[in-house]
Amino acid sequence: MKTLVAFAFTAALACATAQAALPHLSKQGSTQQLIVGGKPYLILGGELGNSSASSAEYMRTHWPRLKAMNLNTVLAPIEWDLVEPVEGRFDWTSVDELLRDARAHDLKLVVLWFGAWKNSMSTYVPSWVKRDQKRFPRVQVASGPSVEVLSAFSSEVRDADVRAFAAFMEYLRRVDGEKNTVLMVQVENEIGMLPIARERGAVADKLFAGPVPAELLRKFPGAKSAGSWAQVYGDADAGQEVFTAWHYARFVEALVVAGKKRYDIPMFVNAALNRTGRKPGEYPSGGPLPHLLDVWKAGAPSLDFLAPDIYFPNFSQLAAKFNRADNMLFIPEANNATNSQGPANAFYAFGELDSVGFSPFSIESLGDAPNALSRSYEVFAQLTPLILENRGKARMGGFRALIEEDGTVSDAPVKKVLGGFELNVTFIDPWTPRDKQTLGDHGGMVIWAGREDFWFAGQGITVTFKGVGEGPPLVGIDVAEEGRFDSSGKWSAGRRLNGDQTHQGRHIRLPPGNPQIQRVRLYRYR
Ligand code: DGJ
Repeated sequence: MKTLVAFAFTAALACATAQAALPHLSKQGSTQQLIVGGKPYLILGGELGNSSASSAEYMRTHWPRLKAMNLNTVLAPIEWDLVEPVEGRFDWTSVDELLRDARAHDLKLVVLWFGAWKNSMSTYVPSWVKRDQKRFPRVQVASGPSVEVLSAFSSEVRDADVRAFAAFMEYLRRVDGEKNTVLMVQVENEIGMLPIARERGAVADKLFAGPVPAELLRKFPGAKSAGSWAQVYGDADAGQEVFTAWHYARFVEALVVAGKKRYDIPMFVNAALNRTGRKPGEYPSGGPLPHLLDVWKAGAPSLDFLAPDIYFPNFSQLAAKFNRADNMLFIPEANNATNSQGPANAFYAFGELDSVGFSPFSIESLGDAPNALSRSYEVFAQLTPLILENRGKARMGGFRALIEEDGTVSDAPVKKVLGGFELNVTFIDPWTPRDKQTLGDHGGMVIWAGREDFWFAGQGITVTFKGVGEGPPLVGIDVAEEGRFDSSGKWSAGRRLNGDQTHQGRHIRLPPGNPQIQRVRLYRYR
């Protein structure tokens, strides 16, 4: 008996140890760390264009380029149609090739399960699903022809997707459970109902007339504490969208539960964001959008987090909505890779919003390194240990020129109080002609290293200082120097910046177009 208990204990311990070794999230301060191989990990990522990973030959020349761009992680789709061409018969060639090539280039992966829905549509489902509308019903819109969108209310659709996803996760555990090349899995892609706020048809209508589930009401109260969807959330588009979000979330929950049972690594969904003033259905209704995050949290509690795809110019405001106590920020699609605002957005996301990663879309379409993104990733790679140590501890800040949804770029400076000092950051570079500056590309970050010491990184920012609280109010620059962290993490100082480079002690300047790191020690005087 004793031996049996000891054996069971050892087995449980081994299982718990293996589990702890898998990629997982772990709380740190106000956020979570992504733990990989027992250590925190920061994603310097890029997402492949949709069709690229379906051909290893197409990707052959891109892998070394991605590595040269200083990426450490590639986001790549796994397509249901490729892995289950015949029902119940799986072909893992595309998965094997992806793992093989990522490993050969020392890159990690975040994989995107293109299952029942990709951008609202159902084009990545296998032929045997596409061609059998009877068994796999599509969304009913009020009138007109059918749409290529599978119904979220069909148990056949859900169960087929669940079976395929579970088989994939089981396979992944077998082939990657030890190497952990795959860090996380995105479930489906940009879910949301088009072109109407909610699905119609007998099943959907009946559910809409039924009661709102109590677990949703607790997390997302409506006008009434019980009743039908129309009674609680209203019959207008907004109420219908809540219904849509709930049912998509429940569908995803089934996948996540089944997937994690096979292989328990972090899983998330991504949102196609909505422009102000647009109606649900004009944008993908019911996706994991800022105004529906709580609906999704209630409906899919097994998801680790919800993530924004940000193609609109007001990056900082949109990203901030996903950085919550119950939601770690990660941006799987941070605009197109060619967008020149990418580096500034990345500095803001890592510095101000504790993002665990940043990943522009269609990364392989960016020209060869060095480019603006690769230069900033080179800086982030140097700063990674410091960023990881300070995530979630309110010891970092991020700065970028504020941009409105319509693209208007503000030239207003911003302020941040950190470590007893007030930092005033301006985005207009004092030494560059104004018509040669693109303020939207200017941004940076700061890390407080304790006492009077700071690390600054970025491009196109100029910082002045004041004291806050007790003590002498004036603040000078004791030491400012540029430099770099070597591969062992040791700081190696370059030029000491006392003269024109700091305007004779008046400011810290990180010039435009050339992301860099500066070490700064301040002092107070009267
Ligand atoms: C967002 C989607 O999530 C991507 O898969 C891709 O279709 C891009 N849009 C294209 O801009």
